[in-house]
Amino acid sequence: MKPKVLLTHPLLKEAMDYLAEHTNLELATSQDFLPHSELVQKIKDKEGLLCFLSDTIDQEVLDHAPALRAISNCAVGVNNIDLKLARSRGIIVTNTPNILTEPTADLTMALILATTRRIVEADEFCRQGRFQGWRIDLFLGQGLQGKTLGIIGFGQIGQAVARRAQAFGLKIIYYNRHRLSPDKEATLKAEYRQLDALLAEADIVSIHASLNPDSDHLITRDRLALMKKSAVLINVARGAIVDEKALAEALKTGQLWAAGLDVYEHEPQIEPDLLSLKNVVLLPHIGSATYETRLQMSLLAVNNLLEALAGKTPANLVKDS
Ligand code: GLV
Repeated sequence: MKPKVLLTHPLLKEAMDYLAEHTNLELATSQDFLPHSELVQKIKDKEGLLCFLSDTIDQEVLDHAPALRAISNCAVGVNNIDLKLARSRGIIVTNTPNILTEPTADLTMALILATTRRIVEADEFCRQGRFQGWRIDLFLGQGLQGKTLGIIGFGQIGQAVARRAQAFGLKIIYYNRHRLSPDKEATLKAEYRQLDALLAEADIVSIHASLNPDSDHLITRDRLALMKKSAVLINVARGAIVDEKALAEALKTGQLWAAGLDVYEHEPQIEPDLLSLKNVVLLPHIGSATYETRLQMSLLAVNNLLEALAGKTPANLVKDS
């Protein structure tokens, strides 16, 4: 008998076909938004769940899932899942690490360049037919050569950003819960700083930490105030790491020069004040969104689930689950 599986939203077709072949599959919705109450209804008789970072797998879901044995999250971050509770109920949790490192680092560079060189504003200017001729002071931005990039969260993605940033002439400083070995720091040409010192020193601050109780609102109003007025903040990690209201205010009042965001505190809602600001570039959480990566993520999520349901130890077991 094939195991009953709930897929909360569609995967890329190849992966969804593969999952459907090996399981008794129910697709919860083909819409972008799945109401929590529907998830709670549909999980009831399922042994496996394949879900995404936009699905909150909390106590209510787990209380309605007596047969659930495995949760495969099609994302590297697992802050959307109550890991402790899942573990206490013997439910295996998996994620999709490693494969999204490079595209997420690429998108970080895109945001660094888009904000410092005002790409989106300039594009809009052209489309509005306002380009009347070359001008010495048209869309002056900030150069990267010789500036300092402060990376918060120096795991795989943060390090991949550091490698790219060096090619642009940026000096790298980083803050991480655990300091890297001197050898690793030397290889990456990265210097460690305490968080507040990093914020005060960096010209660009880029966030690559995972969201957990320690990093929730790590970047408070007070910490934003430590940053230079000419500084740029980039966040491609999780929105709740930054106090989004305070960020909007800092951008509005000129306390910060610009921001590039791929993630939001209350996704998919975006702080309304941000929407009207020209000095922020807003993306809809597309860090890993290349065709190749999303296909690999989809296939990996399916494999993780099938392995777990077959009683094997999946390659991408979330250790804390
Ligand atoms: C994306 O944000 C992910 O965690 O995979």
